Amino acid sequence: MTGTSSGIGQAVAIELLKRGWMVVGASRRPVSLQHLNYRHLCLDLADPEGLASRVDKELGVLFSDPQVNRLALVNNAADPGLLGPVVRIDPAEMLRIYAINVAAPTWLMGWLTRTGPSGVPRRIVNVSTGAATNAFPGLCAYSNTKAALRMAGMVFSTEINASEGTGTENPDTTILSYEPGTVDTSMQRTARSTPVETLPIVDFFANLQMDGMLVSPSEPAREIADYIENDGHERFTEGRLEPEVT
Ligand SMILES: NC(=O)c1ccc[n+]([C@@H]2O[C@H](COP(=O)([O-])OP(=O)(O)OC[C@H]3O[C@@H](n4cnc5c(N)ncnc54)[C@H](OP(=O)(O)O)[C@@H]3O)[C@@H](O)[C@H]2O)c1
Repeated sequence: MTGTSSGIGQAVAIELLKRGWMVVGASRRPVSLQHLNYRHLCLDLADPEGLASRVDKELGVLFSDPQVNRLALVNNAADPGLLGPVVRIDPAEMLRIYAINVAAPTWLMGWLTRTGPSGVPRRIVNVSTGAATNAFPGLCAYSNTKAALRMAGMVFSTEINASEGTGTENPDTTILSYEPGTVDTSMQRTARSTPVETLPIVDFFANLQMDGMLVSPSEPAREIADYIENDGHERFTEGRLEPEVT
């Protein structure tokens, strides 16, 4: 899974380890997580060649273990892409955000599906956001890329459906596009501290915190872990965190 060095990704890794999974995490920073069943790949998702060679070399070998009976991919890492309003967008920066938020997770979906033992269920979770389907000023790069990842999951699900019965793909592969709600992580902190000229809705993010609207990363982590451990999903589904009522 990607983005295990903080926030939701770190919480998902901890939740899965608690449930007995072996977890391979990836992010640019190392992680403090010390667990026998955790391995970390320090990599930058903006570098597609580095990603492909590391994943092929270091993950492929794990799949030869006969005990592997379920595979999951959590495409969680993202760059908030706070590049300012469209009139100021730098195209090179925009391409970098596309590499991290779209190209890398899309490639990983394909990689997981074609690699590893056949007949083993595969669960894919693409972490999305309300900004994938709603427009907000200043969030062009973030919204665009999250909308593209959501659509990549939808397109991929039609391709798996079309290949069913041909013996070329793993039929028990399902994809969830998941909105975690508003979560108390460094991404929210970054949004709150961004200048209003770059993010005209900065007050919206400040108010989420002041009004106590941020949930702990452990809440979406539980829902993501539940999805990947369960069966009977539609090929593609969308979900949103339903905060716990206390
Ligand atoms: N927090 C919210 O309210 C909220 C709401 C909706 C959706 N989301 C989504 O939730 C997901 C997790 O975000 P978060 O809130 O938990 O934020 P976060 O704490 O900032 O975590 C982001 C993670 O992505 C990794 N990452 C970023 N750029 C990377 C790169 N170039 N290469 C490799 N890893 C990279 C970071 O690791 P490194 O910096 O170590 O590389 C970090 O582990 C994101 O997809 C975000 O869009 C969050």
